[in-house]
This record gives sequence, structure tokens and C-alpha cells, in this order.
Amino acid sequence: MAEYRFFADGFEERVSDYLSNKPEADVELEFAVPEKDFNTAGKGSSELKNLLKRLGVDSEILRRIAVASYEAEINVAAHSQGGVMKSAVHDELIHVSFIDSGPGIGDIEQAMVPGFSTADDLVRELGFGAGLGLPNIKKNSDAMRIVSQEGGSTTLEFLIFF
Ligand SMILES: Nc1ncnc2c1ncn2[C@@H]1O[C@H](COP(=O)(O)OP(=O)(O)OP(=O)(O)O)[C@@H](O)[C@H]1O
Ligand SMILES: [Mg+2]
Repeated sequence: MAEYRFFADGFEERVSDYLSNKPEADVELEFAVPEKDFNTAGKGSSELKNLLKRLGVDSEILRRIAVASYEAEINVAAHSQGGVMKSAVHDELIHVSFIDSGPGIGDIEQAMVPGFSTADDLVRELGFGAGLGLPNIKKNSDAMRIVSQEGGSTTLEFLIFF
């Protein structure tokens, strides 16, 4: 099992406070992300964006959440056998997780390199496969974590503070 962690400057302590308190979410959303179904993929991110807009989340924060969740959702559809997107909205932050059912990421450090992609022809024809999704998730998150088992499941989660 391999793990990748990232914290934006100054956020590590806030994240560890949040994780150690394990507070109950104010709102939770869950969406299935089916494999290679690009009509459905993106729906979860778009519903999440609508919800946060209704809750009055600042537009720049909203943009970062929308970008990160869309990239992660497309990755599950494009590169995995399908999975689920779970969002937990708290007072001061949002925690979004993507859990898929494989086949895992062989080398996470390599997957994080801008331009690296294993996207197949179908995915490339649809305009994906620039190898920029994971770096973009990192750029827009306050904290990010990937846990993956080669041949098994991948979990990608990120936190963005309001
Ligand atoms: N959930 C996943 N399961 C398995 N492999 C993944 C998963 N997410 C990402 N990857 C691997 O990491 C690589 C890089 O992902 P990234 O999102 O940066 O680029 P991409 O999806 O290939 O292209 P783009 O996001 O620019 O359309 C992917 O090509 C794939 O090999
Ligand atoms: Mg991608």
C-alpha cells in the first residue's frame, strides 16, 4: 500500500485538529461514479457546487472545490472500475473523498507529475489525458491524501477550508 500526503502552508495543524476531533458533518452527499460513463461523471461535483452555492460559500473557495472535485471524479470514471464520491460539509471546511474499486495507482509520485497520464484512446478522444488532474487537485486543496494499493482500491481525499 502506498500513501501520498500534501498540506498547503500552515494547514497541517488545522487538518490534524479536524481529524482528531472527528466532528459530525452538517451535510453529507454521496454519488456513485460509474466506470467510463462520462454522462454521469461530473454530476457529483456539479451537485456539490450547487449545494455550496446555496449555502453561501465564497466564490473563490467554491471554484477551488469545484475544480478539485471534478478532476477527482473524472479520474475515477476514466482510470478505475468505478467508485463513490463522498462529501462532508462542516462549519469551517469541506472534506471530499473518492473511493474506487481498483486497479490502483502503481506509482503515486509518478502519477502526480504534471503531464504523466495512462489515459486510453477513448478517454483522450473525450479531451482528457493531459496528465494535469492530480496536480490541479493539489493546487486547489488545503490538504490532500491518496492511498492506493496496486491491483486494489484507491482513495483520494482533499480538504478545503472556507
Ligand atoms: N482513481 C485512479 N485509479 C487509477 N489510476 C489513477 C486514478 N487517478 C489517477 N490515476 C493515474 O494517475 C494518472 C495521472 O492522473 P491525472 O488526473 O493527473 O491525469 P489524467 O487523468 O491522465 O489526465 P487529465 O486529468 O489531465 O485529463 C492517470 O493517467 C492514471 O494513470
Ligand atoms: Mg485526470
